[in-house]
Amino acid sequence: MISVEWDTMLNPSVQIMNIQHSKIAECINTINDEIVDMQHSCTHINGLLDQFEQLCQMLFMYEEQLLEEVNFPSVAEQKHLHDLYLKSIEQFKAENYQCHTASFFNGFIKLRVDFLSNMNKETMILCDMFMNNSRGDTTVTSH
Ligand SMILES: [Fe+2]
Repeated sequence: MISVEWDTMLNPSVQIMNIQHSKIAECINTINDEIVDMQHSCTHINGLLDQFEQLCQMLFMYEEQLLEEVNFPSVAEQKHLHDLYLKSIEQFKAENYQCHTASFFNGFIKLRVDFLSNMNKETMILCDMFMNNSRGDTTVTSH
């Protein structure tokens, strides 16, 4: 099984986000393992998907808070992307009861890829920006 690995080179100022990412990665890997292991119940897997959604929700809320603090120009667009992603997790749960089927597995791979390629990349951009903004200053100033 391929594990998700995370860049741990983040500035301490965004360490909370790093911890959140680690928890999400752990959750993604657990769900992945349970889908391919027939011994796990679909109810349990759906519970893990709830947990995954909650973790994403917390990460996004924190991100949005940081974006507002640094006056990010497209906060609304970011919030929209987050909402769409949370909705895609919700829909994935609602539409699938056959949790060990190939289609369910492929659906989860798509969620993983979307998180890694879009959500994570965009978070890294935010972290870079946050680091640059707070360089030479220990706090991000509000106005
Ligand atoms: Fe984001």
